[in-house]
Amino acid sequence: MYLETERLILRPFCDSDGKDLYGYLSREEVVRFEPYPVFSLEEANKEAKKRALDPAFIAVCLRDPEGPGKLIGNLWHAADGAPDWRTWEIGYVFHSDFQGKGYATEAGSRLLEYLFCSLGAERVTAMCDPQNVKSWRLLERLGMRREGHLLHNVFFHRDDEGRPVWKDTYLYAILRSEFHSN
Ligand SMILES: CC(C)(COP(=O)(O)OP(=O)(O)OC[C@H]1O[C@@H](n2cnc3c(N)ncnc32)[C@H](O)[C@@H]1OP(=O)(O)O)[C@@H](O)C(=O)NCCC(=O)NCCS
Repeated sequence: MYLETERLILRPFCDSDGKDLYGYLSREEVVRFEPYPVFSLEEANKEAKKRALDPAFIAVCLRDPEGPGKLIGNLWHAADGAPDWRTWEIGYVFHSDFQGKGYATEAGSRLLEYLFCSLGAERVTAMCDPQNVKSWRLLERLGMRREGHLLHNVFFHRDDEGRPVWKDTYLYAILRSEFHSN
């Protein structure tokens, strides 16, 4: 997969992305709503190698006519359910220095176009923590509808006494017909 937008290149990860990946996964404000803690440089190098073998992860880089553009974030996509259902789930994480500039909307729109127009998706879904306002606002900018508010459906951590720290989840989706009429 190799996709372009006005300002971005969307491409597979490669082994050498570890340093740029560390640039954002080492930041508390970036991983706050993720199921993992901040990464060390060593962990980010390993993660880049893992992602290079996993087509679900898409590296989002700035277009740079003078060479390989900086990696500023990533998208994620995976089949959700049986292949015949033609449903994909998407996710996204962007470097905090490159938020608030419309890059996530630009990359996310291109990914939706790829899923609906190239892969023939019928439905695309996304999940986020209701407290992650930037995330669900992005999903609404992408034309996705809130379909549900799941209560205490997941936990990523336990408290000091070992009790689960339950979290709610918003479920968003967009159908092929909605994408084409937007
Ligand atoms: C979720 C996340 C990707 C959203 O990023 P974002 O920067 O808010 O989204 P965009 O890149 O689309 O930027 C939109 C903002 O840029 C502004 N903007 C500036 N220039 C712009 C341009 N040229 N085009 C479009 N928007 C532009 C918009 O007005 C909007 O601002 P607002 O938030 O004040 O309304 C980001 O917060 C993130 O990576 N968070 C950490 C990881 C995470 O929580 N992931 C989700 C887990 S469910």
